[in-house]
Amino acid sequence: MAVSDRARTLVLALPDEAATVALARRLAPALADGGVVYLRGELGVGKTTFARALLRALGVGERVKSPTYTLLERYHVNGHPGFHLDLYRIAGAGELEWLGLDELDAPEAIVLVEWPERGAGGLPPADLEVALEHAGAGRTVHLTPVSTRAADWLGTGPCGGGAGMN
Ligand SMILES: Nc1ncnc2c1ncn2[C@@H]1O[C@H](COP(=O)(O)OP(=O)(O)O)[C@@H](O)[C@H]1O
Ligand SMILES: [Mg+2]
Repeated sequence: MAVSDRARTLVLALPDEAATVALARRLAPALADGGVVYLRGELGVGKTTFARALLRALGVGERVKSPTYTLLERYHVNGHPGFHLDLYRIAGAGELEWLGLDELDAPEAIVLVEWPERGAGGLPPADLEVALEHAGAGRTVHLTPVSTRAADWLGTGPCGGGAGMN
């Protein structure tokens, strides 16, 4: 990971829910072969909206429920294991043990985590950080690639291309 990649945060305005969904759809193909996304931001900011749209764009046909109570929902995503976590209700990473999170470490796993800060130490490292915040009636999103592959997803890495976000 190049240190400079961390500084390459893209900031985008998401004026309405449709914009959040469109961004998730645009990023989805980059995650099709696996990746870990941390979704940050307060309650009601759109983390589940983003995760749901991303999983649906990758072909998940079943209903994508919020894992608010279950902590973890599993999906089959075109032959890849998919995981959607919401750790709002846990007190610390120690509570993750019974969930059997070893599965999340597979490079081909598609892992979307709401409230990742509550699972610190028990989660695979993020490829991409998606931080949402309120901006009037809409939202602002900060996209920060952490891994080299994520920099390529956004088109900010040495290979460019990606989703052409820059
Ligand atoms: N860009 C946006 N602008 C305005 N409202 C949005 C936007 N993105 C999502 N929302 C709305 O935010 C609300 C809460 O979203 P949700 O995904 O449940 O939040 P979280 O998972 O962060 O608690 C939903 O009603 C959704 O329609
Ligand atoms: Mg949520």
